[in-house]
Amino acid sequence: MPVANALSFPDCLPAGYDHLPSEPTFDPARHLALEHPTKRVSLADLGYAEAEIAACPSDLGITAPFRVLSDEGAACLLEVARQLAPFAISLERIERMVRGGTYRSRFLRDLCQSPEVNAFMSEVFGAPLLPHTIPHQLGHLNFNPTQVGRNVDKWHTDTLRIDYVMFVTDPRAVQGGEFQYFQGTKHEMKALAEAGQPIPPDRMVSPALPGPGYAVLQQGNMVVHRAKGLREAAERITMVNGYVPAEIGFPDFTRYDQLYLADPHHVVTEEYARHVSWMGREMLTHRIDNPAFTDDRLREAERFEQLAHLFAEAAGQIRNAGAAREEHFGDGE
Ligand SMILES: [Fe+2]
Repeated sequence: MPVANALSFPDCLPAGYDHLPSEPTFDPARHLALEHPTKRVSLADLGYAEAEIAACPSDLGITAPFRVLSDEGAACLLEVARQLAPFAISLERIERMVRGGTYRSRFLRDLCQSPEVNAFMSEVFGAPLLPHTIPHQLGHLNFNPTQVGRNVDKWHTDTLRIDYVMFVTDPRAVQGGEFQYFQGTKHEMKALAEAGQPIPPDRMVSPALPGPGYAVLQQGNMVVHRAKGLREAAERITMVNGYVPAEIGFPDFTRYDQLYLADPHHVVTEEYARHVSWMGREMLTHRIDNPAFTDDRLREAERFEQLAHLFAEAAGQIRNAGAAREEHFGDGE
């Protein structure tokens, strides 16, 4: 499969976004403390079939918690997250979240785009990655709801392929607020939700995150997960950073109609159009740069059909956005 070149971060800010007036400068040497996870749960462990796994860029389901940030790095990220908190928006699924923080915070942008972190996450994932080409899929911040007990986020799969979920605040300092994943497939979760059945408690896994700056890496569109509510009022912040597979050609799970519900329309439309154009450009560049002089007509036709499908699907999503509902599997207690 062709390996794509990274897409540059936009060099101008969208209307309505400004840089934070004062914030720390990201320094990988001081702010990172990357440590490999000791365990990984595969897609097969979750119950996925061979053909489904073959259509994914790696066989990773989710890792055990591992360290990303040093104490100083975690303290800087917390300072930035608190400065970004006033920009929080509310949706049915998540009551308080900040998206697009990478336009406002250079620290967040540089952390989320860090080549050191990208190379490390690629190793952990088992296939080459690139920071997500949609800036609103970078550095997404979830804040605790104002109401104690309300789940931070409902059971769902992501509309991106790969992401890490990292605690910004100390998970040991609060009651509740666990990140949980479902020991099973998204098909099983869909069947449970449709039948109105509760999720068996022994199939909810709560990895023990040992402190701020620790994360789990997951194939977020294959692992059903959620964030539980707090049992006592406290500050709970997590950051989710998205990646795309560097190998172009895997199905793209981006859902413009879902992003359109969350993100400012003038930004999401540009970001999605740029993302799809980048995928098309990378596929075309690979084709142009690799002349082969064969008569493989079927392969050639398939290549153009793949491109046509990519653009037709994007056009359809852009044309029809606005009528969608937020998709999730509910609170599922
Ligand atoms: Fe998620």
